[in-house]
Amino acid sequence: MTNSAYLAFEPDDADAARAIAAELEQHGWSAVLAGPEYRVQDKLGALVQAVGQSGVVVVLASPIALESTWIRREVAAALNNGRTLVIVQTADLAPDSWISQTLDAASFIDLRGGARSEVLAKIVERARTASARGRVIAMLNIKGGVGKTVLAANVFAAAHLADKRSVSFIDLDPQHNLTQYFLSPGERNRIRDRNHTLYGILNARGDHSTPRGDFGAISIPLNRTKRGKGPNFELVAGDERLFEFTLDTRADRDKAEAFTRFRALVSALRERSDAVIIDSNPCATFLTRLAITTADHIVAPVRPEKYSLTGLNMLEHVVREVRGRPLRSEEFSVLLNGVNDRTRSGETGDADGLTRAEIQNAPFFGSALLSEEVPYSAVLRSTPTERFAANPINVTAMMRVGGRPAKEALARAAAAILRRAGP
Ligand SMILES: Nc1ncnc2c1ncn2[C@@H]1O[C@H](COP(=O)(O)OP(=O)(O)OP(=O)(O)O)[C@@H](O)[C@H]1O
Ligand SMILES: [Mg+2]
Repeated sequence: MTNSAYLAFEPDDADAARAIAAELEQHGWSAVLAGPEYRVQDKLGALVQAVGQSGVVVVLASPIALESTWIRREVAAALNNGRTLVIVQTADLAPDSWISQTLDAASFIDLRGGARSEVLAKIVERARTASARGRVIAMLNIKGGVGKTVLAANVFAAAHLADKRSVSFIDLDPQHNLTQYFLSPGERNRIRDRNHTLYGILNARGDHSTPRGDFGAISIPLNRTKRGKGPNFELVAGDERLFEFTLDTRADRDKAEAFTRFRALVSALRERSDAVIIDSNPCATFLTRLAITTADHIVAPVRPEKYSLTGLNMLEHVVREVRGRPLRSEEFSVLLNGVNDRTRSGETGDADGLTRAEIQNAPFFGSALLSEEVPYSAVLRSTPTERFAANPINVTAMMRVGGRPAKEALARAAAAILRRAGP
């Protein structure tokens, strides 16, 4: 998937598109050229599928191309599916053209002087860095209390400690439990006062806006590793004001800007981390949309309980709606959380077995269910105490004494998820 490029262009730019495709193919890429088999009015699904499955989407932009509804659709599909866009400018563009307004015009590649080899090399290089970067993984389930937050922290702490993976967390939940998990109240207030939480990222203007230049530096290190020395383990904190983006009170312009700024944050983080982990709120709001549109892979924890399939089915619907295409099961991992719960021994029936069987037999989720499962564990149940921890990774279950089976299960789940998330 990651080694393929979709080229969106209009007939005027066909020669340039073929030159770019040839260059990409010479460097091991497969190139899909926009054409009559995708641009079919009554089969938009095929177009969205082709764009959504490609590693990068290269758009040849000229004033004429920007008038094309197909180019608009292709760019929208790329944005909704979290694909990296490489904009190649084949003619002068007005600064207020929709593409310059939607995307960072400073990153456009200039092909106005023709398809010269150094420009073609730049396009291949851009495609390569985009596909070599870290994976974005969203912890999602429309059902609440299933372990999204606790597993985000502990599964990826396992990836960091056991496999030296670099990890960046983003706390996208207004309840900001992940931030509370790692940081003391004093520390949370300090970063909130400095506008160094996600709220400042999502706000493009006003007193609470974080300047663009600070995006790369607002994450809080959660281990003692100095930035740039050894794998990082860091958090972009959330705070309760994020709730403003769950209501309809924010104007469309605010949301569009928030979307662009969130994408910029994710790009900055994935450049330096193997995994960018987004923890999200248990419902379908604009914030959920941000998570779905940027994620390469979705992890849905489920508890061994009745109705767990309902939450998954809803999640699949929401993702399909946002991305405009059906989800493929390899883009998704279902992680059974809290098995072997001895505190429930009074109940009749085997909740673990029933839930496992129910998911396995469900048409879509069966092939997404991981065989690695997370046991019920007292360490995972308890919240870290609010004492100040200079090295917050110490508060994760992975670091605590005892519970070796839980630790090993977390490390196995981490490896399985990262394997599925590719590349
Ligand atoms: N494997 C486990 N063993 C024991 N307790 C667990 C386990 N996983 C999660 N818990 C507990 O279940 C509760 C809910 O977990 P968590 O907050 O991570 O869920 P969530 O999906 O993030 O919830 P929300 O939807 O509210 O964001 C917490 O008290 C947590 O400590
Ligand atoms: Mg949570």
